Amino acid sequence: MAEVNYNDLVLKELNYNSYLKLPELLSLQEEISQPKHHDEMFFIIIHQAAELWFKLMLHETETLVESFRDGMVSRALKALKRITRAMNLQVQQIRMLSTLTPVEFAGFRNFLRPASGFQSAQWRIIEFTFGVREPFFLRFFEKMPEIRGRLEDILKHPSVYDECLRCLHRDDHPIPEEVRERDFSKPWVMNEELVSVIQDVYESPKEHYHWVLLFEAMIDLDEAFELWRKTHAVMVNRTIGFKTGTGGSAGYNFLKSRENTKCFPELWEVRNRIGGTH
Ligand code: HEM
Repeated sequence: MAEVNYNDLVLKELNYNSYLKLPELLSLQEEISQPKHHDEMFFIIIHQAAELWFKLMLHETETLVESFRDGMVSRALKALKRITRAMNLQVQQIRMLSTLTPVEFAGFRNFLRPASGFQSAQWRIIEFTFGVREPFFLRFFEKMPEIRGRLEDILKHPSVYDECLRCLHRDDHPIPEEVRERDFSKPWVMNEELVSVIQDVYESPKEHYHWVLLFEAMIDLDEAFELWRKTHAVMVNRTIGFKTGTGGSAGYNFLKSRENTKCFPELWEVRNRIGGTH
């Protein structure tokens, strides 16, 4: 007897629920606390929702990189805007955690060990892809060889920042060779000459306004990342104080030490130069 193709059935009966696979999606929130703690559902949903938005950010990042490769600055701008909106939404999501009191969180926190945000593959892919490349974080994927391999592979290739600067170079803004040909696996090193190139762009808006808009959109994204890190750190402090994290870090103090991490350092540095140094 021929096998029934259930996918076909779903397509024939396409509706809101089947298109969005809601039966599957809505059955993925499984508490592990015993007895079930009321607030664990909130904790699971807020993380799952964040991971869905991370997925969208990575999806849009493909368009962003492609746009840089094709020299389409305005298309890159559009992709950046959506990515930034999604990141800003994460800041608001983290704020929702102010509705979880320390007592409520303590009621199920021990069941979660040793799971930790350090193991968020998508977050680490986002950081590595945009240019924050700290090999320290690879250790959290030792037991996930596929993810670790993907992260190592990202380190071998240009970041979003590298792609942007290559695009700028092809548009007749000479990017220093040591920047273009750098070892992608190494953390970024601030380049003075590059700051001057960016300053020239900012100071000739009539000729280069599309680049000025793009740089400002990149600053918007870096700002959103920073706000997320700060908001997450403060939320951690109010929820678990100065306790260590379930991933073994120093918790709030560790998160605070990363707050000012930048994806596009020269775009920030140029602000010290524009209009004089005082
Ligand atoms: C009660 C809620 C939360 C607490 C207490 C908390 C706590 C922590 C702590 C202590 C760390 C440091 C790593 C460790 O030692 O485990 C961390 C990292 C992280 N958390 Fe959270 N977190 C919470 C909610 C969230 C949410 C909703 C997200 C959304 C995705 C998230 C994503 C992350 C990520 C991506 C990291 C890695 C940060 C980095 O690499 O700098 N966390 N979290």
